[in-house]
Amino acid sequence: MKVLVTGGNGYIGSHTVVDLIDNGFEPICADNLSRSRKEMWAGVQQAAKQEIPLYEIDLSDKVAVQQLFEERGDIGAVIHFAAYKYVGESVKDPLLYYENNLNSLVNLLSCVNKHKVKHFVFSSSCTVYGNPEKLPVSEKSPVVSPQSPYGATKQMSEQIITDFSHNSDCRFTLLRYFNPIGAHPSALIGELSNGRPENIMPILLETADGTRASMTVFGSDYPTRDGTCIRDYIHVMDIANAHTKALQYMQKDTKPEKVQVFNLGSGEGVTVLELISAFEKASGKKLNWEMGDRRPGDVVAVYADNRKAKEQLNWQLQYSLEDMMETAWKWQQKLDS
Ligand code: WQD
Repeated sequence: MKVLVTGGNGYIGSHTVVDLIDNGFEPICADNLSRSRKEMWAGVQQAAKQEIPLYEIDLSDKVAVQQLFEERGDIGAVIHFAAYKYVGESVKDPLLYYENNLNSLVNLLSCVNKHKVKHFVFSSSCTVYGNPEKLPVSEKSPVVSPQSPYGATKQMSEQIITDFSHNSDCRFTLLRYFNPIGAHPSALIGELSNGRPENIMPILLETADGTRASMTVFGSDYPTRDGTCIRDYIHVMDIANAHTKALQYMQKDTKPEKVQVFNLGSGEGVTVLELISAFEKASGKKLNWEMGDRRPGDVVAVYADNRKAKEQLNWQLQYSLEDMMETAWKWQQKLDS
C-alpha cells in the first residue's frame, strides 16, 4: 500500500519510513525540510536500502497538497508527522504553531474523502495529559487544558480529526508519544537538533561530545525519588514500528469506532539523574552537568500504561534504555565524524 508520510525526513518520520519498507509498505514522503537537512534523506534511503520519493512541499500550502494527491492518485494511507514541536518556541510564537500545525492537518484532511484515503495515523503526544494526578497514564486518563500552544495544537488536532471522522470512511489512529530517544542501530539516521534544541537528549549528547561545556539539570526539588523529573523514554525504533503496526491493525480492524487512541511509551518512569547515569554507563563518558532551577511548565512525572497498544496493535518493545543510550551516542559520534 502507498503510504504518504508527511515529515518523513524528520526524526520519527525517517525511522518510520524505514520500518514501513521493512514491512512491505511503499512510503512516499512530503517534507518542506524546514526542520531537517536534505542530506538526511540519503541516510534514510541507505537504511531502507532503496530509493524513496521525496516531495519537497509545504503542507500549509493547500494547493500544493491538493496537487500532490492529484499527481499520485494512489495514496491509500497517510502518516502525519509534519509539525513544529518545541514547547518554548510555541510560547514565544503561538501563531507560527497554530498556522503551521493546524493548517497542515486541515489541508491533508480536505483531500482524504476525494482521494479515498483509507487509513490516517496522527502523531500526537503525551503532552495532552499535562501533569497527571494518577500514574501510569492510560488512554482513558483525563486530557487536561494544554500547557503550551504546542500542546494545544496536538489537542485541537485530535478534536479536528474526531469531528472530521464522522463524515468520512477513513479510519484514524492517534498515537500519543512519550519521549522518543535513540537512533537507528546503523547510525545512518537519528535526531538532528536544529542548533537550539530544548529536549534533553540532543543537549546531553552535545555535552558528551564537547560541543557544550556542560548542561543543567532543571530542578532537584521535585517530589520524586531523587528530586528530578520523571519521563517515559522510549526508543525511536519502537515508536516507528508502532506506526507500521497501527496501519496493519487498521487494515484488519472492524471495530465501529473510526478513531482509536494509543499511548506509545515504554511504561517505565526514569528520572533525569537516572538518564544521565544510564548514558555515562553505556558510553563510558563522564557528563559535565550542574543542578539548576526548575524549567517553567515542566511536568513533574509522566509515564505510560502501554497495555492497549501492546495488546491491540500486537506491539512488542525491542529496545532497552541502554540501547537508547548506545544508539544515541553512536549517532552523535557519526554526526561529529
Ligand atoms: C525531559 C526532562 C527537563 C533539558 C518533550 C519535548 C517537548 C514536547 C513534549 C513532544 C525534563 C529535563 C531537559 C535540559 C534538563 N514534545 N531537562 N536539562 O519535558 O517531556 O518535553 O515532550 O510532544 O517538545 O521536549 O522532554 O526532553 O524537554 O525534558 O534537566 O537541558 O529533562 O526538565 O524534566 P519533555 P524534554
